[in-house]
Order: sequence, then C-alpha cells, then structure tokens
Amino acid sequence: MSPNVVFAIETSCDETATAIVDISTRRILAQSIYSQYTEHAPYGGVVPELASRAHLERLPHLAEQTLRQAGLQWSDIDAIAATVGPGLTTALVVGATFAKTLAVGLGKPFLATNHIEGHALSPLLAETGGALAEAFLNKSEPYLLLLVTGGHTQLIQVAKPGHYTTLGSTQDDAVGEAFDKVGKLLGLPHPAGPAIEKLAATGNAAAVPLPHPKTENPLGFSFSGLKTAVRELVLKHTENGTLNTETLNPADLAASFQTTVATVLARKTAAAIQATGSRHVVVAGGVAANATIRAALMQVCEEAGATFTAPPLILCTDNAAMIAYAAGLRARHGLDTGSLSTRVLPRWPLEDMATSA
Ligand code: KG4
Ligand code: ZN
Repeated sequence: MSPNVVFAIETSCDETATAIVDISTRRILAQSIYSQYTEHAPYGGVVPELASRAHLERLPHLAEQTLRQAGLQWSDIDAIAATVGPGLTTALVVGATFAKTLAVGLGKPFLATNHIEGHALSPLLAETGGALAEAFLNKSEPYLLLLVTGGHTQLIQVAKPGHYTTLGSTQDDAVGEAFDKVGKLLGLPHPAGPAIEKLAATGNAAAVPLPHPKTENPLGFSFSGLKTAVRELVLKHTENGTLNTETLNPADLAASFQTTVATVLARKTAAAIQATGSRHVVVAGGVAANATIRAALMQVCEEAGATFTAPPLILCTDNAAMIAYAAGLRARHGLDTGSLSTRVLPRWPLEDMATSA
C-alpha cells in the first residue's frame, strides 16, 4: 500500500519548512515555514553556508512543532519525504540527511522528492485544488502549467503525475530573478518580489514605457532586456548615487515593470493554450503569489474558455506541503521515489521524472 500520511522536509534554498499531508484527501494536516530573511538580508542574496546552518538549527524544532500541530504521533506517519534537488547542495544535504535519519529511526520509507515537481503539483492541494484534481486525477485531463520561481520560468504540459513536457522556457533570467534584480536597483530587500508588488500598488503602470522581450520560440521567455532597460533608466535618473524620485518615481517604475511582466506571461500563456488546446491552466511558484500576474492570467484563461487554478499564497513560495504531496502522489502512481542511497541533485530537470519504481 502506498503511504497516505506523508511528513516532508524542504530545505532547497532559504526556507526551512516541514509539513504533513494526507495524500488521498489532498489536505494539509499541518505545516511550518521559517523564512531566513534576517540571515541573508545583509548580503543582498542567499549565502549557501548561512542557509545550511539555519536549516540545521531550525529543523528539529520545526519538525516537532508540525507533528504537534497536526495532533499526530510519529507512529501515525507513513513515510518521510525530503527535497533532494534541484537547489543549493549544502542546503539540500541538511534536509535530506535529517529526513533519512528520521526514516531510519522510525522504520518508515524515505521518499526523495524533486522541488520543481512539488511546485508543479502544488495547485492540486487543499480546497482550491478540488476542481483541478477532479479533472486531472479522476478524468486524466492534462493541464498547462506556468511555472514562475526564482530559478525557473517555463510553460509545461502536465500529462499525468511524473509526465512533463516543456513547451518553452526562459533563455536568460527567470522571472523571479528579474523581480529580485529590479528590486535591488530600487534598493528593496531580497527577495524583492513582494516588495515590488507593494510599491507598485501606489504607482501608475502606464507611466514608464518598457520594452516587451522578443524570443525565438514563441512560447519562450526573456527578461534580461527588460531588466537592462530598468537599470539604464535608474542610472539615467541617479545623481551622486541617489535616485532622483522627482524625475523617476520608483512606484511608477515598479508598477510599469510588474504590468509588463504580467502582460508578457499572459500573452505567452494564451499562445500556449492555443497551441495545445489546453482546457486547464495552472500557475505555480513564488511569483504566482503576485496578484497582478494572477489577474492577467485569469483574464486570458476566461477568454480562452480554460479553467484557471492558482495555489493559495502560502503554497506559491517554497513550502514542504507541496513536497509531501508530490512524494505521496508519485508513490501512489508507482513512480520512482528513490531510496536511502539517493544523493542530492543540485540539477534535476522535470523531464527526468517519468521513471517508474
Ligand atoms: O518558488 P520560490 O519561493 O523559490 C524558488 O524555488 O525559486 O520563488 C521565489 C521567487 C523570488 O524571486 C521572489 O522575489 C518571487 O518568487 N516572489 C514574487 C512574489 N513573491 C515571491 N515575485 C513577484 N511578486 C510576489 N508577490
Ligand atoms: Zn521553489
């Protein structure tokens, strides 16, 4: 019998997270997330050694807290999952080793999980995933996934669990990376996505004309030109190291950048719906938390007559519930879930996930 109550650990980057998920009901029984903002803030980016140390310090407490919140005992857990890739090697090693040790100690199976597959399947979770789960799991209808994280920007056809075909991806920066770099130019703290969204709320999105990127693959993406255009504008309006906010309003720039990104993502998604005839569209990953992007996607889906599903905000950014669910669903579908000897994989493309156990 495949495991139903899965305990998972996520430590691929700068979030330390644990969760328990009931696979058959898609319910999150408990989850805890510690975001390492304060550790990395002075450095303007994630420092791998600091990330792994913070994971190591936080994990024992978070694991106990999650179990207590769910009102369960370790004996109620059927399997222990952990993200083994892709991500920062030193950070992955901490979570994977903790999970393996727990699995051996408890005499439960260890499930090695792909972080990106976690994001890809996250929209199926919880109450918001009900209609999609009915179509995808019960009626075997595929969905079109727009995956937008700090490291990935991809349009992916999800045929069934484990079966992913990339239709287009970014030829340079990922969209989250573009948000973070533009945020840095505006002096915002890392990761800058949420701060840009907040700043943009008070700005005029039509105030600063920005270029729309061109790509060879009509379903591909490129964000480096957009980022460069923002950088040149900021430099042009900077005197003695200070941005002249009279001539370039940062809120207007943030709003114009955000709307340009939303328009590009929506157009590409519309083109992918047309190319594939998809009836279900899903957005996932940290950038999916952005309300302007969600609204633009919802509109193109409505126009195309496709359903649109976005996970709740807490499931957009890195979390362990998506890891538990991906692990449990793979086990349920007879897909390979690794073993205690599975090593961490800093690179691990989704296309490699179709192997059976
Ligand atoms: O999926 P995620 O948590 O981690 C990765 O696997 O990369 O994504 C993190 C990215 C960061 O670049 C962050 O700035 C961006 O998601 N992000 C946002 C928002 N919240 C997080 N970007 C735009 N708007 C947001 N509200
Ligand atoms: Zn992620």
